Amino acid sequence: MSSQAPRQQQKRLVVLISGSGTNLQAIIDGIADGTIPNTTISAVISNRPHVGGLARAAAAGIKTETLDHTQYHCREAYDRALVKMVQQHQPDYIILAGFMRILTQHFIETFLGKTVNIHPSLLPNHKGLHTHRAVYQQRDQKHGCSVHFVTLDLDSGPIIGQASFDVQDTLFHLSENDAIESLRREVQRLEHQLYPTCVQWLVGDRLYWDPEKNRLLFDGQLIDQPISASH
Ligand code: GRF
Repeated sequence: MSSQAPRQQQKRLVVLISGSGTNLQAIIDGIADGTIPNTTISAVISNRPHVGGLARAAAAGIKTETLDHTQYHCREAYDRALVKMVQQHQPDYIILAGFMRILTQHFIETFLGKTVNIHPSLLPNHKGLHTHRAVYQQRDQKHGCSVHFVTLDLDSGPIIGQASFDVQDTLFHLSENDAIESLRREVQRLEHQLYPTCVQWLVGDRLYWDPEKNRLLFDGQLIDQPISASH
């Protein structure tokens, strides 16, 4: 009999993407450098063929699958196929990393408490699209990103963590397009730190959401404030 302690069971992730996959890359890197221990990405699934994120996954030796939404006549049919594809990998968590589709009730309820998303704003501010434009137009003083559990209300599930920065006054002297690009770059820089941190909390069983009781626990303590991971 081996005297070694049994190896901790690997946590399994499925990552859903639609595009360039820079957040996916941050998680791949976090697993590779041990920041996110005992974790494997079982598959990366894209709703769009040939996107950069698929190439990143393949380069890291991760199984890739494409489920092209244009091949389905309705959202419901697509999500039923997506649920089946995800279930084949028996993931502990489903990580939405720039997956640009609104999920149906069927998907959300099947994986309630297991699906997390990153959103480029300080939720509950600026749900939906065009968050950087909204920050510019409303002259917000702070901006950032949020990682949250996915629930039926868009961008409204319990917040796992946030990272923020002060928007400099000088930003509002730029043209709208330049300002948006600058905000986008700064938010993405924070996203690439925040998402691996939050994934690490989840797979390390430090952070847990009980959907039935709607209780969010961090290190066994009930929390009602998002955890700030400001950098
Ligand atoms: C991120 O900014 C994320 O907040 C949003 O989509 C973007 C995805 O970027 N949901 P990438 O594909 O990870 O580079």
